[in-house]
Amino acid sequence: METPVELPYAYDALEPHIDAATMQVHYEKHYHGYVNTFNRTIQGTPWEALTAVEALKRLAELPEQIRETVRNHASGSVNHAFFWQILSPQPQEPSDWLRNALSQAFGSLDAFKDLFLSTALKRFGSGWAWLVWTKNAELAVYSTPNQDNPILLGDTPLLGVDVWEHAYYLKYQNRRKDYLEAFWQVINWREVEKRLREARGE
Ligand SMILES: [Fe+2]
Repeated sequence: METPVELPYAYDALEPHIDAATMQVHYEKHYHGYVNTFNRTIQGTPWEALTAVEALKRLAELPEQIRETVRNHASGSVNHAFFWQILSPQPQEPSDWLRNALSQAFGSLDAFKDLFLSTALKRFGSGWAWLVWTKNAELAVYSTPNQDNPILLGDTPLLGVDVWEHAYYLKYQNRRKDYLEAFWQVINWREVEKRLREARGE
């Protein structure tokens, strides 16, 4: 059973980068839809107490007839709860600590931005791009199809961007690149840093 998280700001808080209409439909319809379908799928089964994260971690144990639905909708629930938190209405810059960590892994903050946004741009169809702390204890950038969450690969997501058309089409239509540049303006770097410190056991 997954309980939807509250949106931590108003629908229009990320204007003009992400518009209020998109945020409202994204949060109320898409996010709640994932949570509701996940809950409905596990209801009445021995798995109904599992949260979405727990279900993803134990996906291989689930019966085959519900596994694919749980994979998609538990991931959709986890991804969006995460996405609301790594966006911020207050403009932020990465701290020196985070900037150093990203520079060591990717060369510089600009190089990281180029890699992250181009990975998101190149994802064919629907999916996500991620900065993760891998199971091998290093930073990495990759994209996943559909709603697949890095937890399925044993990795820990630190930053993620939704490149499903529902995340940008109302305002940006086919201009995914413009949406990605706008996304970059509203990243909650403090949340990214908090997640990296936790993943590294600091
Ligand atoms: Fe989405």
